[in-house]
Amino acid sequence: MQHVPSMFSMEGQVAIVTGAGKGIGRACALGLAQAGADVALAARTQADLESVAAEIHALGRKAIVVPCDVNNEQALELLVQRTLAELGKITVLVNNAGGAGPNDPRKMSADDFSKVLTWNVAPAYLLIQKVVGPMRDAGGGAVINISSMAARLAQKHFSAYGAAKAALNQMTRNLAQDFAPHVRINAIEPGAIKTDALARYLTPEREEVMLRVTPMGSLGQPEDIAAAVVFLASPASRWITGKVLGVDGGSEVPATF
Ligand SMILES: NC(=O)c1ccc[n+]([C@@H]2O[C@H](COP(=O)([O-])OP(=O)(O)OC[C@H]3O[C@@H](n4cnc5c(N)ncnc54)[C@H](OP(=O)(O)O)[C@@H]3O)[C@@H](O)[C@H]2O)c1
Repeated sequence: MQHVPSMFSMEGQVAIVTGAGKGIGRACALGLAQAGADVALAARTQADLESVAAEIHALGRKAIVVPCDVNNEQALELLVQRTLAELGKITVLVNNAGGAGPNDPRKMSADDFSKVLTWNVAPAYLLIQKVVGPMRDAGGGAVINISSMAARLAQKHFSAYGAAKAALNQMTRNLAQDFAPHVRINAIEPGAIKTDALARYLTPEREEVMLRVTPMGSLGQPEDIAAAVVFLASPASRWITGKVLGVDGGSEVPATF
């Protein structure tokens, strides 16, 4: 029988992480590097990426900095080409860039609604399309899409974000069917994770309401998502594809403000 702890190793793997400058993306990039992977870091702010790259270099792994707006398809193509040229292959993709704040369904324009839908789904779709060939050439690969528990919990003020992440989940399930067995595609639904994005909405009163509906009794840390990403990227999950994993402190009820 194979040694199970060694199945969690990312030695010899090369990952692309979008939104890698801060928050969940930064933690995923660092976690993958700690487990042995080299990492291509993508986001718009170069200084943030340089600082994550320095942390990865200190771990003895390679990291490249690729400033990139995921809404720009040419930038996504360059991200893939630079990763192949500078790190040699692609075996893992973490589609993490995305998000959206609450919306007022009485006022949100069709244009703003479409932007939220597009941003959370289309770059992930295009990047998957671009990496499946290289992953197949490398002997296989794994994609992890960062969704949200907002895809599952009915909640006021999140009709656009919830719809976008629900679309990402179903895209995950369907693409997993298209690209098995060479490429596994899974998603993670984080609950409330302490990042800059959450800090924009987090008042002490809101935090108290969130904690009341979180059975584990605390908000999540970016590392909680990174640990699940390492699992879904590594051979430890080699027989798992097309699944959506909640990493949410046990939340089944939305926080209502
Ligand atoms: N935090 C939570 O509670 C929570 C819960 C559920 C799901 N999520 C999901 O987790 C993901 C990350 O959220 P987070 O809380 O870690 O956010 P964050 O702390 O705001 O970090 C977002 C990262 O994405 C980058 N980014 C933003 N727009 C981008 C674009 N157009 N192209 C490339 N990179 C871009 C940002 O850098 P630049 O601005 O420099 O580009 C930054 O590095 C999102 O998909 C979000 O929906 C978060």
